[in-house]
Amino acid sequence: MTVEIATRTMHADAKAIAEAARILRAGGLVAFPTETVYGLGADGTNAAAVARLYAAKGRPKFNPLIVHVADPAMAQGLAKFDAAASTLAAAFWPGPLTLVLPKTDDCPVAEIATAGLDTIAVRVPDHPVAHALIEAAGRPLVAPSANRSGHVSPTAAAHVAADLGRRIDLILDAGPTRVGVESTIVSCLSDDPVLLRPGGVARAAIEDVLPAPLGEPASAQANGPQAPGMLPSHYAPITRLRLGATRVEPHEALLAFGPTVPPGAAQAVAVLNLSPSADLVEAAANLFAHLRALDRAGARAIAAMPVPRDGLGEAINDRLARAATPR
Ligand code: TXA
Ligand code: MG
Repeated sequence: MTVEIATRTMHADAKAIAEAARILRAGGLVAFPTETVYGLGADGTNAAAVARLYAAKGRPKFNPLIVHVADPAMAQGLAKFDAAASTLAAAFWPGPLTLVLPKTDDCPVAEIATAGLDTIAVRVPDHPVAHALIEAAGRPLVAPSANRSGHVSPTAAAHVAADLGRRIDLILDAGPTRVGVESTIVSCLSDDPVLLRPGGVARAAIEDVLPAPLGEPASAQANGPQAPGMLPSHYAPITRLRLGATRVEPHEALLAFGPTVPPGAAQAVAVLNLSPSADLVEAAANLFAHLRALDRAGARAIAAMPVPRDGLGEAINDRLARAATPR
């Protein structure tokens, strides 16, 4: 008989971080907080560890991973920076921006982590625990969001335990994440940087520091591996999500936004508001936790009120659209 032991969750103090680094260096899997969402970390230079990570997540193999480094100098050992990439790194690191760049010739990151591509996605997270963990492990950490593939991203340690408990070695808990949506991904592979995924840094902030507007991905409409990370139902809850709702139908739960109470709200199975004051930063921070909670309400569907598209609203609408895509 096998006895399943639940994954340990440790408050992310210095002792826990040292223990986590030891596990990572030995090829284990540790969930840790970043400013965006919790990541599931593995030693990016250890192909076997990265393979276990894909297995724990149930992630399609063609979806490459983001490599997390402690500082820009560490990133320069992995990726080649052109002028635009250097500008973006100087402006937004540490912070919720991931850059897709050509790999260096002697890049130590395992091929499986980049899915065999000659490009690599790197970022410097803005979280003291993430920073300390990378330093203590002494190597780049690959870290997808710490959820099962196709589930919403975790913004609290309890979400990680619910999704990945028993499949990983340790969870470092530092409370809820500040940003709440994943990093913005920009590829700098040609002359004009391209926005691959909206996220924690708004498009306008990026365009402020660049000489020209961001380009759109060539395959923005295609939902295949040629647009990595753009799997249509990547962020889906189990309950059907109805977008742009201006009223609540019978047996629906309500994902509200702003001060307006729509017709039918009083009969809703459950109601959560992303931001009663219509603050998009607060809404981003609440998005995944609210989706998770409403998913458990036993509703026929989740009615999501419209969210404006400016600032972080672009990322919020992107995640809602993916969550609403039937699988
Ligand atoms: O905020 C975040 O970015 C979080 C935290 C944990 O850092 N991580 C995260 O990782 O969202 P993940 O694996 O859930 O999403 C990584 C995205 C995927 O959409 C993947 O396809 C894309 O990055 N990606 C990775 N390497 C790439 C590459 N070489 N070219 C294009 N896209 C790439
Ligand atoms: Mg993810």
